[in-house]
Amino acid sequence: MTTPITIDFTETDLDALKDAGGTLAVIVTPEGKLDPAARRLNRLTKGTLARLVEADRFAKAKEGDAITMAFPAGMAADMLVVLKLSRRPSVEDARKAGASLAKVRGKGALTLCAGSTNKIEELALGLSLRSYDFTDHKSDDSDPAEGATVMVTKPDAATDAWADKAALADGVFFTRDLVNEPANVLTTVEFAGRLKALSGLGVEVTVLGEDELEQLGMRALLAVGHGSESPSKVVVMEWKGGGDEAPLALVGKGVVFDTGGISLKPAGGMEDMTMDMGGAGVVAGAMRAIAQRKAKANVVGLVGLVENMPSGRAQRPGDVVKSMKGDTIEVINTDAEGRLVLCDVMWYAQEKFAPAGMVDLATLTGAMVIALGHENGGVFSNNDAFANAFLKAAAAEGEGAWRLPMGQAYDDLLKSRIADMKNVGGRAAGSITAAQFLGRFVKEDTPWIHLDIAGVASVKSDTMLAPKGATGWGVLALDRLVRDNYEG
Ligand code: BES
Ligand code: MN
Ligand code: ZN
Repeated sequence: MTTPITIDFTETDLDALKDAGGTLAVIVTPEGKLDPAARRLNRLTKGTLARLVEADRFAKAKEGDAITMAFPAGMAADMLVVLKLSRRPSVEDARKAGASLAKVRGKGALTLCAGSTNKIEELALGLSLRSYDFTDHKSDDSDPAEGATVMVTKPDAATDAWADKAALADGVFFTRDLVNEPANVLTTVEFAGRLKALSGLGVEVTVLGEDELEQLGMRALLAVGHGSESPSKVVVMEWKGGGDEAPLALVGKGVVFDTGGISLKPAGGMEDMTMDMGGAGVVAGAMRAIAQRKAKANVVGLVGLVENMPSGRAQRPGDVVKSMKGDTIEVINTDAEGRLVLCDVMWYAQEKFAPAGMVDLATLTGAMVIALGHENGGVFSNNDAFANAFLKAAAAEGEGAWRLPMGQAYDDLLKSRIADMKNVGGRAAGSITAAQFLGRFVKEDTPWIHLDIAGVASVKSDTMLAPKGATGWGVLALDRLVRDNYEG
């Protein structure tokens, strides 16, 4: 388990700055205005900060950038960091400043003089998220980074504002750990166990085993897991923070490893399919954040946990399976398994909870990566207002999201000769036909959003708020969606 660093807010103590060890950071506005802490540091260092703000280096730095100065004279700290940031920064710039600090600070003590800078909790979120480091399987793991002390003019207000954001960081870390975890560690059983632990936060967690899934008629989901030694499971996480309104349902694809099954994937890059449970990971992280900050809303998370393996028991191309809904599916390609898992969990979610809205998340198609790369998650929906609410939430949280079209002509590509539908629609518009497949399992009156996160769940280079690997994309947007549309 990767735990976020602790971040404490205290009153500014100018006299403590001289002897503070480790890294000392201070905020300077783009206009070069020095606040009392910066003036004190300037005095201690015999005018270093005044020189810096006149220098080219400062002019060229962008809002949210960090400028480091090693072993400053006149003080105990090993490093002085200047964050270039306005008194009233945007959310994005505040987070960026925190992230910039996380990247340069080192692992020792950290003191940040933030004075009366606004959105300090957003800066702290950036610092927290960008400090993530997945070291569980490193045997030479050195100690984790020390916590941070942030000196501000109003520590109580900052502490309150931070509590909600800290819940988000916790949720994102939970997601990232799940997504980064290798498949021999994160089996379906282990995954269910980690979700069960959410009950400690007041989430009601139910684990459905294969017998129960069989009874419910989830044959499409079960067929995917048939070739694996790990038992298939559906985990239901209920957060009841609202009244008796219908809940928002979050449904996640949790393929703990996707070999492709009998339609085996090529060897190159197959190791990346440890992240094929990304949708379930985001649902888990969002539930954790929502529970941790005690959201006044009803939200239910449902994840289908399976492993897609080839074996003598595995389903074959050409098999016909019956979904819980009752529709039959011709499995043309066993590698289009995510939709087989989701269709049953989505149907179950609607039958059991009659949700006010349903969002499914899945690393569903390689075509999504081709279409939008790693910058935007794909958004598909049967409801403009619902889709727009999500797009707004994602934009507010800086998580790229882009809506793609759906339509009858795409749906027609799923026609099967021998069953009600086939599980693939051909190469053209692969992400859209996958969405159409899922759409067949959405009831007429259920507002629904499908998020194809194949390109954004885990990436090969650093992003603003995450080191390479799992990003946690979606946790912040889903939390914002709940906050802005389902609370009070
Ligand atoms: N898990 C994959 C999709 C994927 C690919 C996620 C790359 C992340 C990165 C999914 O199960 C899959 O294999 N999809 C197939 C569908 C095809 C057989 C219609 C694909 O995209 O090739
Ligand atoms: Mn697949
Ligand atoms: Zn898959």
